[in-house]
Amino acid sequence: MRLLHVADDVALRAALRGQDAVVSAIRPPTGQEQTLRHATEALLRTASDGRTRLLIVGGAGPLVPGCAGRLAIDDERHVPRQWRTIAAASVAPLAACRDHAGPWTQVGPPANLEPGERTGRYRLGAGGHLVVAPDGSSRLSMEDLAVAALGELERPGVRGGIVTIGS
Ligand SMILES: NC(=O)c1ccc[n+]([C@@H]2O[C@H](COP(=O)([O-])OP(=O)(O)OC[C@H]3O[C@@H](n4cnc5c(N)ncnc54)[C@H](OP(=O)(O)O)[C@@H]3O)[C@@H](O)[C@H]2O)c1
Repeated sequence: MRLLHVADDVALRAALRGQDAVVSAIRPPTGQEQTLRHATEALLRTASDGRTRLLIVGGAGPLVPGCAGRLAIDDERHVPRQWRTIAAASVAPLAACRDHAGPWTQVGPPANLEPGERTGRYRLGAGGHLVVAPDGSSRLSMEDLAVAALGELERPGVRGGIVTIGS
């Protein structure tokens, strides 16, 4: 496994050449949220060559919490004001993925994703729907999200699409 900074296409292409899979879990520092779109587009250009699996951990902002078609970012129960900037910055990267033909998979996290316990228990959703528990919450530990994301790489259920994950 290698960690690298998404900077320019040449360096990125050289670093990713021959890799079976690339996992991106980028979160820009506060004040640089808009760079997420550029970084995602660079990954799509360089890693989605038809051979390398690209799995991108996205944000919950552009996910749909219910049937009404409203996005999580517009629902303060899921995206409170203090998370709005980073949540908004995750909308364009998902759109960039959807415009791209290569074999990408985006992981749509729950609204509340924090370090916690690795239980190995999680639920998957489809269609860009935020995974919401019966009590209305949308949460998972980062550890369980990592287990689920790696499971998607090993047993890909979604290609060119988004799989959402929650408890
Ligand atoms: N509910 C939600 O939607 C939600 C909540 C939390 C996290 N997440 C997602 O989960 C993932 C991990 O989040 P986290 O909280 O663990 O993030 P984090 O601890 O802040 O770590 C972010 C990482 O991204 C790297 N990074 C930032 N810009 C980069 C670039 N241009 N090229 C390469 N690496 C770059 C940073 O590297 P350096 O430290 O070297 O700069 C750092 O290792 C992210 O995809 C985030 O969007 C989603």
